[in-house]
Amino acid sequence: MKRFIPHEELARDSRFVRQDPAQATVLASLPDDVDTVVNVFEQFGPLIEAGVRGTSAEPLFDELGPGFMISVLNEPLDPEAGAAVPRLLLRMHGIFVGELQALEGAARSIWDFPDAPWEFKMNMARQCWDEARHIQIFEKLLIHLGGHVGMFPESTFLFEAACSDDPAMRVAGVNRGLEGLACDVFRDMIRFAEKTDDEVMKQAVDYVLADEITHVRFGSEWVKEFTKNDPEHFRKTQDFRREVDKRFSFGGARSDREDAAIPIAREDRLEAGFTEEELEELAQISGEGPSKQTLMTAAKILHDRFKASQAAETTEATS
Ligand SMILES: [Fe+2]
Ligand SMILES: [Fe+2]
Repeated sequence: MKRFIPHEELARDSRFVRQDPAQATVLASLPDDVDTVVNVFEQFGPLIEAGVRGTSAEPLFDELGPGFMISVLNEPLDPEAGAAVPRLLLRMHGIFVGELQALEGAARSIWDFPDAPWEFKMNMARQCWDEARHIQIFEKLLIHLGGHVGMFPESTFLFEAACSDDPAMRVAGVNRGLEGLACDVFRDMIRFAEKTDDEVMKQAVDYVLADEITHVRFGSEWVKEFTKNDPEHFRKTQDFRREVDKRFSFGGARSDREDAAIPIAREDRLEAGFTEEELEELAQISGEGPSKQTLMTAAKILHDRFKASQAAETTEATS
């Protein structure tokens, strides 16, 4: 079996649709400027459209246009808001494929580093066992909410952080970046389940979150172990984690901002071995993207232009 596979080689059955991962992370690289955000999404328009056709994201695209992910990512989940169900399912499906990729990341960490200590392999094996259970839990939750596997395209941007050939970088990306994001998202899902009185979802996600805290802790401990006596190596892993954290903040959608769609789960992260200093830094990195005002203005412009071009096409077709 091959070692160090690139994210394009992740195998899936015919139920799954693959999406270009650049779309999920482009927000993190944009400046706080409405015109730039609009231009980038218009440029990506045909790619975004091709990616959603034939999936359950198609109605969201038809309603909101190429900037639909800006609205979906930046508005907190609200059971009372428009398109609440498709948006909830989109989030749930994203978590489900995230669990698949977390399993693949942890399993690859066992296979890719044959010389790593036995205790490391045992920790990664324990994580695989947990992630396999999480996949089943989120598949069941998806069905519980009226969805199904493969209904939305899958972006492999999480697994992209799991491709380093250095074990310290690998655990920094997977067990601190990816699993840290999982803590933030799951704490938010628990809050949502409380709001909607969904005891099944609340309990299930709470069980999963307890495991994720352990996975972050594996990362916190193994980064230290793999880089002990080598401050330069440690610094590199911290740089990589910062880069991953920036990408996974989706331009401030996951941040400490007051209006963030996904707030940082500070308590859970402290329990998992993040230091106060690292959390301060995460708050700063994740808040650096375009302001929510910029993003929502850009989303509105994209929506209006999209509707205008649809109307023009209809007129042309009927004249
Ligand atoms: Fe998980
Ligand atoms: Fe995990």
